[in-house]
Amino acid sequence: MQSENDGLNVKRILVLNGPNLNLLGTREPEIYGWTTLNDINEILRERAKEKGVDEIDFLQSNFEGELVEAIQKARGRYDFILLNAGALTHYSIALRDAIAAVPVPVIELHLSNIHRREEFRQKSVIAPVVMGQICGFGVDSYIAALDIAVRKLQKDSK
Ligand code: DQA
Repeated sequence: MQSENDGLNVKRILVLNGPNLNLLGTREPEIYGWTTLNDINEILRERAKEKGVDEIDFLQSNFEGELVEAIQKARGRYDFILLNAGALTHYSIALRDAIAAVPVPVIELHLSNIHRREEFRQKSVIAPVVMGQICGFGVDSYIAALDIAVRKLQKDSK
């Protein structure tokens, strides 16, 4: 019988969270839910293990430059980045340029559906340089992003 992680070679995933996502659980819970970032990371860690991912690392930063550096350093180190850039999504050309400069595929994700919120949130400056965007599913946005990354990596290693 085929197991879920058949065909998955050494695969490393970086989960990046931007400004204010350290406050999840207490921050506007009617929009972002009651789950903390630590809880989300634990859910992802477990799921990644089940799916045979070798390494999953997590970084949250409130600083644009730290996220830019993390993306730059991901070259050759990670096979996929799952990115919730928070508010930087809507205006950080530096983040966009870092994503475009580094040949590591990025999945953009958001807890909320940014397209049905304030007008300034409806524009993502990173969307044109990422592989795809998932938004509006709360914690499931993270899970879906992980599952898609794993599926892509499985396909690539065949
Ligand atoms: C967010 C949406 C952004 O507009 C906001 O600035 C965030 C969180 C989300 O996950 O829904 O910080 O990225």
